[in-house]
Amino acid sequence: MQKLIEEIKKTSSDMARRGWAESNGGNISLRLNKDQFALFDGYSPKSESFPLPVSMPEIAGERFLVTGTGRFLRNIELFPEKNTGVIELDSQGASYRLLWGYEPQGAPTSELPAHLLSHCSIKKKTNNQSFAFIHTHPTNLIALTYAVANLDTKSLSKLLWQSHAECIVVFPAGVEFLPWIMAGSMDLGRATADAISLRNLVIWQYHGICGCGRNLDEAFGRIDVAEKAAEICLKVMAAGGAKQTLTDEQLRAIAANFRCEVDQRLFE
Ligand code: 13P
Ligand code: ZN
Repeated sequence: MQKLIEEIKKTSSDMARRGWAESNGGNISLRLNKDQFALFDGYSPKSESFPLPVSMPEIAGERFLVTGTGRFLRNIELFPEKNTGVIELDSQGASYRLLWGYEPQGAPTSELPAHLLSHCSIKKKTNNQSFAFIHTHPTNLIALTYAVANLDTKSLSKLLWQSHAECIVVFPAGVEFLPWIMAGSMDLGRATADAISLRNLVIWQYHGICGCGRNLDEAFGRIDVAEKAAEICLKVMAAGGAKQTLTDEQLRAIAANFRCEVDQRLFE
């Protein structure tokens, strides 16, 4: 249990220190692996059953460590049992109950639809190898969605790849760009789950980013690299724009050198 809590403490504090989690901004969910799942065997439910807006049979019976709505990520380090909770889905994936946390009372993040629907996609696409999903508000990535005209998945992926030579290695499938959708909505949840089935990072216009990974470190790392690229990109724009940049040939060469499977359609 302590090890599991230490993981989320590290990730949430890193996010807060990076300035990605102002006030209650951002949320984290971790689908519990076999060992982590067993830690909560024998816990009696602390809440009634809450119906999910749609059934999610793909993640029926799963347990998740999820940050609480309205809670500050920077406070998880101090009071994990207040700011996070463990929920368990029923055997149909139609409702959940609280097993632990959100002391003295509380509820999972308002972005629960995006988290749980994305976990369905992630579990399937990675053959049950990926467990972490993070949503956060990194300043430079958000700024980029205002500063660049006519953004779409292709142009944003290319811009980030060109802004930092490591990007194509870390996210060779690119980033999916979602035009603005209301926070916390089922529409945003569905669009994010579809997007994350294609790529490991999803940008929410004017709002933030979502990332997935095998564990919290991998999800965090992907977001961190994208945010660094966005920072470089904005600095270059502020300095009068790029006078030269990585060519398609160079990007392809980096990907080939590190044996990364690039989404070639992003070059077309
Ligand atoms: P919660 O406090 O409900 O997690 O919401 C924060 C957020 O970032 C919404 O997009
Ligand atoms: Zn948000």
